[in-house]
Order: sequence, then C-alpha cells, then structure tokens
Amino acid sequence: MLYTLITGATSGIGKELAYIYAKKGHNLILIARRDKLLQKLKSDLEANFDCLIEYYVCDLNDIEKVTEKINKLNNKYEINCLINNAGIGIFETINDLSIKAINDQININVISPIIITRLLIDNINKNNGAIINICSVLSYLPSTGASIYVATKHALHGFSNTIRLEYPNIHVLTIHPATVKTNFFKDENYLQRQKHVIDPTFVAKKTYLAYQKRKRKLNIPKSFCLINGLYYILPSLVDKINRKYFSNK
Ligand SMILES: NC(=O)c1ccc[n+]([C@@H]2O[C@H](COP(=O)([O-])OP(=O)(O)OC[C@H]3O[C@@H](n4cnc5c(N)ncnc54)[C@H](OP(=O)(O)O)[C@@H]3O)[C@@H](O)[C@H]2O)c1
Repeated sequence: MLYTLITGATSGIGKELAYIYAKKGHNLILIARRDKLLQKLKSDLEANFDCLIEYYVCDLNDIEKVTEKINKLNNKYEINCLINNAGIGIFETINDLSIKAINDQININVISPIIITRLLIDNINKNNGAIINICSVLSYLPSTGASIYVATKHALHGFSNTIRLEYPNIHVLTIHPATVKTNFFKDENYLQRQKHVIDPTFVAKKTYLAYQKRKRKLNIPKSFCLINGLYYILPSLVDKINRKYFSNK
C-alpha cells in the first residue's frame, strides 16, 4: 500500500493538498502539531474519499523528535510521494529578529524537510516516487524584512535541485507561489493590503497537475518567472520595484 506524506496539513496550502490528493485516491500520512485538526481532517477525508488516512502529531521545530518519528514511519509505510509543505515566516528586519525566530524558521523550513527527505529517500526511490517542496517566489528573489525566510526558501530550492541530480528516478518538483490567502501572515492586515492574493485551493490544484505532468518547477502565478529572469539581468531595477511594492510584510 503506497502513501503520500504531507507536512503542515492542518491549514492553508497543506490542507488543500490533502483534499486534492485524497480525492485522487492517494492514501495519506498527515503531519502537523494540532491534534484535533488532524483528527477532524482524517474523518472528513475518509468520509468523502476512498483512501486511508494516518496522522502524526509532530513539532517540526524539534529535530530529534522529527528524526524519531520519521524513522518509525519509514519502517511502517511504503511512501511514493513526500510533500514538504510546513513552513513559517517571521517578518522583521535582521536587527529586530530574535535568535529564536532565526532558529525556528531554519529548523521548520530547511532542517526538517532535509532530514525527512534524508530518512525517506530510499523508500521514495524504491517506489519511483516524487518529492514536492513548497518553496516560494522568495526562493529566487530577496524581500526586505524577510532575510531568514528568503534564506530558508533559497536553501530548500537549491536542495531540491541537487536531489533531482542525485536521484534521476525521483520526480522532484518545486512550487513557488506568490502571496497565498492562508493563516501564514501574522499581521492580519497584510493580506488586505495586497492587490493580488492567490487562493490555496488554486495552488493545490496547480501543484497536483504539475505532479501528474512530472514538471520540475511551478511558479504561481506564471508571470513570476519573468521577474526571476529580470532579477538576474537587471538586479538593481528589480531591487527598486521590490522596495516599492513588496516591503510591507
Ligand atoms: N501563504 C503564502 O503567501 C505563501 C507563499 C509562498 C509559499 N508559502 C509556503 O507555503 C507553505 C504552507 O504555508 P501556508 O501559507 O499554507 O501557511 P499556514 O496556513 O500557516 O500553514 C502552515 C502549516 O504548517 C504547519 N506548521 C507550522 N509550524 C509547524 C511546526 N513547528 N511543526 C509542524 N507543523 C508546523 C501548520 O500546522 P500546525 O500549526 O498544526 O503545526 C500548518 O498546517 C509554507 O512552507 C510557506 O512558506 C506560503
């Protein structure tokens, strides 16, 4: 029996991914911290779709626990798709960031997905599976007030591209969304100030399509690949645009 493992399944993009993967008949292992939400999600998914749902409460900030839990899962399940989705963003300029805020973002956004991948890679490879890493448009662009978040998403992107080289049988897909309407932003007014906000169901649908088509990278919206290209040709111009429009997290 094959399983898809999704981290950060209790809200936002991860929850929508759980719905779409379950709808398409994938058995799921869901990971997050909120027990009750995971329990409810399991009942909803099993009631509506023909699939098996397992869930595990795990704080991805606790690397020892992550290692312990994933080792157990690795012995118990055949996994053919890993979706490293869980992530946090703490948006302050570097001098205002606490050491804890720096460590938490690095642990949850980078160390955990790397450790999970490391522990499951043989399992996934054996099943000719896929690894989907939820990166960001900030995996290739900088943004003021987001230095550590940007660093973590650049790292996850670089890690993904290297795993693809090392494991040709594994389909490695990176997803790069712009602003998505989820609980990710602690500043309640941030989303209201944005002109373009993407629905998490749209991100999940597009991710599933890219997974089916074995794509390597997906920008949401697609126009961000132009900004990405422009950044490498005219970085000073993009810095100016960036400061003007994207500096208010
Ligand atoms: N929203 C955006 O604009 C946006 C844009 C680009 C990329 N992204 C990326 O998309 C991914 C999903 O974010 P989202 O927007 O869907 O945010 P969200 O609604 O806040 O969901 C985050 C998920 O991660 C889980 N999580 C957070 N800290 C955790 C921890 N310590 N241990 C285990 N699970 C943890 C949360 O579950 P629990 O609280 O239950 O643990 C939740 O299920 C993130 O990697 C984010 O960087 C988001």
